[in-house]
Amino acid sequence: MILITGGAGFIGGNFVHHWFERQRASSEPVVVFDKLTYAGNPVTIQKHLDSGLASLVHADIADRDAVRQALVQYRPRAILHFAAESHVDRSIHGPGEFIHTNMVGTFCLLEETRAYWSQLAEVDKAAFRFLHVSTDEVYGSLSDTDPAFSETTAYAPNSPYSASKAGSDHLVRAYHHTYGFPTLTTNCSNNYGPYHFPEKLIPLMILNALEGKPLPVYGDGLNVRDWLYVRDHCEAICQVLEKGRLGETYNVGGKNEVKNIDVVTTICRKLDALRPRAAGRYEDLITYVKDRPGHDRRYAIDPSKIEREIGWRPAETFTSGIDKTVQWFLDNDAWIDSVRSGAYRDWLNTNYQGRVA
Ligand code: NAD
Ligand code: DAU
Repeated sequence: MILITGGAGFIGGNFVHHWFERQRASSEPVVVFDKLTYAGNPVTIQKHLDSGLASLVHADIADRDAVRQALVQYRPRAILHFAAESHVDRSIHGPGEFIHTNMVGTFCLLEETRAYWSQLAEVDKAAFRFLHVSTDEVYGSLSDTDPAFSETTAYAPNSPYSASKAGSDHLVRAYHHTYGFPTLTTNCSNNYGPYHFPEKLIPLMILNALEGKPLPVYGDGLNVRDWLYVRDHCEAICQVLEKGRLGETYNVGGKNEVKNIDVVTTICRKLDALRPRAAGRYEDLITYVKDRPGHDRRYAIDPSKIEREIGWRPAETFTSGIDKTVQWFLDNDAWIDSVRSGAYRDWLNTNYQGRVA
């Protein structure tokens, strides 16, 4: 049994699907430990909850009693720690929740898991793993000519989100160094794919376009992100769990650097082909809006360590991944309706109202 924090979110939910598809016959069960914030949606993993192979504990990772109880009840052999507040724009409007979950929550999880691990029988203790899922944003921002982030790039987080993730990375590192706690850390670039919450660039653009709403591009639209299809990230995590060296960090990325404006026009052209607009081309909806404060210019990952040591490589290109993603959003109205609550509409007002073109 493995315990997955944040397993009802975008990447954690995809991970649950990937875990069961990957194992086929053996099916080691999972327990998802999730606070079910606005970003957590049990519908994403409903079929595995219904099958009985996945269980859900609805609780906060900062609630130490709840974490302790889950560890005692389920006795996992590994923790995969996805739970986080994950949206940069929300961290700018309200950093408090980011400190609570990403830093205090990670600390509580580490403390309770260390206590649990220290009491395991020697053979189980040696096999136990705590895999911390982190981000390339901890390294800060690159210029157009800088080399890509490697595992030895100095940390320079620029937003409350990335600073809180950097803090959690440092705690994980210290628990290995000080207590010999068996940690692994992955720092991944921008993910996209099914079940992506539509506050983030790619799903927001797809859904706004389908509704004929403006497509809000921040600043000059020339910021660069290094895109990885979410299932490739999930496979990297599985392989690091199996083969990673304790205490190490692994950068995960697919060498797919794309400017934001090119991401948006790619989506528009796919939609022109798949679901043409009566009123014109989707690109006509592109609207340049006020930039994100402190907006990181470029992210790029050097994945040579994970390729060399673990043997991981992505299966999807940006072209194949974006095709699958656009098609998924066209085919999954029920899931989309389940996440677009009143709270979601409030967020759109908070972030985009007054961001005049
Ligand atoms: P998400 O926001 O879609 O999901 C986060 C999940 O964590 C949700 O299910 C939410 O309910 C849960 N959660 C939040 N606070 C919690 C708490 N206090 N206790 C328990 N559960 C809580 O995030 P995501 O995009 O799936 O990201 C998952 C992880 O991957 C995060 O740690 C993020 O930093 C990291 N990451 C994300 C990306 C990306 O492009 N999305 C890239 C690299 C790394
Ligand atoms: O790099 C990994 C990170 O990628 C993860 O750690 C974060 O959890 C994840 O949210 C993501 O962060 P970004 O800030 O890069 O993703 P986002 O989708 O919010 O924005 C991608 C780019 O698009 C960024 O340059 C800002 C821009 N953007 C975003 C939105 C929401 C726009 O131009 N318009 C928008 O409306």
